[in-house]
Amino acid sequence: MHHGTTITQFISEEQRRVTGATGEFTGLLNDIVTACKMISHQVNHGALVGALGTAGSENVQGETQKKLDVLSNELFIQSTEWAGHLAAMASEEMDDIYQIPEEYLRGKYLLTFDPLDGSSNIDVNVSVGTIFSILRCPGGKDKPTIRDFLQAGTQQVAAGYALYGPSTMMVLTTGSGVNGFTLDQNIGEFILTHPDLKIPAETQEFAINASNQRFWDAPVKRYVEECLAGSEGPRGKDFNMRWIASMVAEVHRILVRGGVFMYPMDEKIRAKGQGGKLRLLYEANPMSFVIEQAGGGSITGPDRIMELQPEGLHQRVPVILGSRTEVERLQAYYREQG
Ligand code: AHG
Ligand code: MN
Ligand code: MN
Repeated sequence: MHHGTTITQFISEEQRRVTGATGEFTGLLNDIVTACKMISHQVNHGALVGALGTAGSENVQGETQKKLDVLSNELFIQSTEWAGHLAAMASEEMDDIYQIPEEYLRGKYLLTFDPLDGSSNIDVNVSVGTIFSILRCPGGKDKPTIRDFLQAGTQQVAAGYALYGPSTMMVLTTGSGVNGFTLDQNIGEFILTHPDLKIPAETQEFAINASNQRFWDAPVKRYVEECLAGSEGPRGKDFNMRWIASMVAEVHRILVRGGVFMYPMDEKIRAKGQGGKLRLLYEANPMSFVIEQAGGGSITGPDRIMELQPEGLHQRVPVILGSRTEVERLQAYYREQG
C-alpha cells in the first residue's frame, strides 16, 4: 500500500529544486518535525504523564508558565541544538537568546518559536500548537546577538506550525505556497494531506475575544458591529463567530474554511504599556507568512505585519489576519480613521 508523501520526502524534493541548497535547511526542518512529534506525544498523553498544570514559574513577559510550556521549550532545544544547523534560537519562554553550546557545531540559521501556543487550553483538553520561524543569521554564526533576530517578517526563510488537535498536523511554508501534513501515529510520519492550501477570499466568520469589546480600537468596533448586524446591516449577510483562544487552531480553521482572526490593539493593552497581545517574532510573523502564502492578508490595523522592523525580541503587536477581502476592509477602516 502506498502511504503518500512524507514530510521528509516533501522537504527534500522541494530543496532539490533550490540551487545551492546544502541539505542544512532540510536537516533543520527534520529536527523541528521531531520536536513537534515529541510535544504531540506529551500533549496527547496529558494527565497520564503528569503533563498538566502550572510549572510554578513565570516567563519574561510575566505570564505563569505551564508544565507543558517549559517541557515543550526543552524538547525544542534538545531536538534542534546538536546538528550544526543553527547559530542561535529565541523562544517566548526564554528571557534571552539561546546560544548553541560550545560542544556543538554552529550553522547559518536562526530559529524562533512559541513552543506551546494556547496554553490556557492545556488543562481543559482543547487544541494547542507550536509556532516556528526560520531566519538566516546576518551577522555570521560565531557570535549571534539579539540584533541578528530583529529582521522583518519578509526575511523569513520558512515558517509554520504544528497543531495538536483531534489529529496532529504540521503546516509549513518555505515561500512557495502552504502545505499541510497529518501525523500518522502508527508509522510516526507526517503525510501530505492538504497540498497547496488557499484561504477562501470571501468569508462569513470572525474570531475575536469579545470580552475585550469595550477596550477595542474604533475600526474593530465598527467592523464587528457590522458583522453582528447580519443580513439587516451594511454587510447584507449573517456572520458566524468562533474563539478558541489558541492562535494555531484559529489560523488553521481560517486556512481550511476562511475567516478573519483579530487580536487588535485595545485600551487595556495600552494601559500595560504593551504594543499588542501577540508576539511579533514567535507568533505574528510566522503566522503572517503562512497566511500570505495561502493568499490571505495580515496587518496590525493600518500596516502589513511582515514589513514591521522589530525593535525587541519579545515585542508584541496587534494582529488582524485571514481572508483577504475582510482584512482589506479592516485596513480601510483603520486608514479612514487616520
Ligand atoms: P500563549 O499560550 O503562547 O501565551 O498564546 C496565547 C495567545 C493566542 O494563542 C491566543 O489567540 C490568545 O493568546 C488568547 O488570548 P485570550 O486568553 O486573551 O483570549
Ligand atoms: Mn502563543
Ligand atoms: Mn506559548
